[in-house]
Amino acid sequence: MSAAARRAAVGAWLAALALAATHALAQITVEEVPPQRQLDVPYVPTRQAVVEEMLKLAGVSANDVVYDLGCGDGRIVVTAARQHGARGVGIDIDPERISEAKYIANRVGVGDRVTFLVGDLFEADIREATVVTLYLLPEVNRRLKPKLLRELAPGTRVVSHDFAMGRDWPPERTVRLGRDTIYLWTIPPQRAARPSANHEVRTR
Ligand SMILES: C[S@@+](CC[C@H](N)C(=O)[O-])C[C@H]1O[C@@H](n2cnc3c(N)ncnc32)[C@H](O)[C@@H]1O
Repeated sequence: MSAAARRAAVGAWLAALALAATHALAQITVEEVPPQRQLDVPYVPTRQAVVEEMLKLAGVSANDVVYDLGCGDGRIVVTAARQHGARGVGIDIDPERISEAKYIANRVGVGDRVTFLVGDLFEADIREATVVTLYLLPEVNRRLKPKLLRELAPGTRVVSHDFAMGRDWPPERTVRLGRDTIYLWTIPPQRAARPSANHEVRTR
């Protein structure tokens, strides 16, 4: 083989190697950093006084299973377990929040009564909830309302920090605590009595 042909062969081999390495790197990147669905709501924690008022407004007791949809660091579910003896489930799409929540729950000794799951609140199984807590956004409440009405048992209480559910599902009670507002609804007994699932949400 001539020197020129040898150089061309080595060049082609190096190019193939580089291509294979790039391909392998692309695969590693895809596998190690799974694509994250975007947050529907940014993380802003509810202050503790409001958490306690939300649970009080819902009348949470040891018989309840409290679901916080978009649970952040888990403070609502942890407080429900600590102060009221309830069981709780927190769901958040951000794995970092769920790690924090599990860590805090174990530190304060309620790790056996609460469960934290990484997941999309729109896809979560919420049927066992007797209380649902929310701190989302008006547009997210609007999208969530049909799921709440479809999946929650009659009598389940829904408490939302700061955002309502629209004119066709007015809250039973509204409590103001400083700059915060808390709304309470109860899932009605009959489907026929339920508000339309398609109505736009308007907030205060
Ligand atoms: C305003 S924070 C409320 C945190 C907590 N519930 C509280 O009141 O302290 C909203 C949370 O929803 C989470 N989130 C946003 N989109 C979500 C989705 N599609 N499914 C589950 N969690 C989501 C965010 O990661 C964030 O932690």
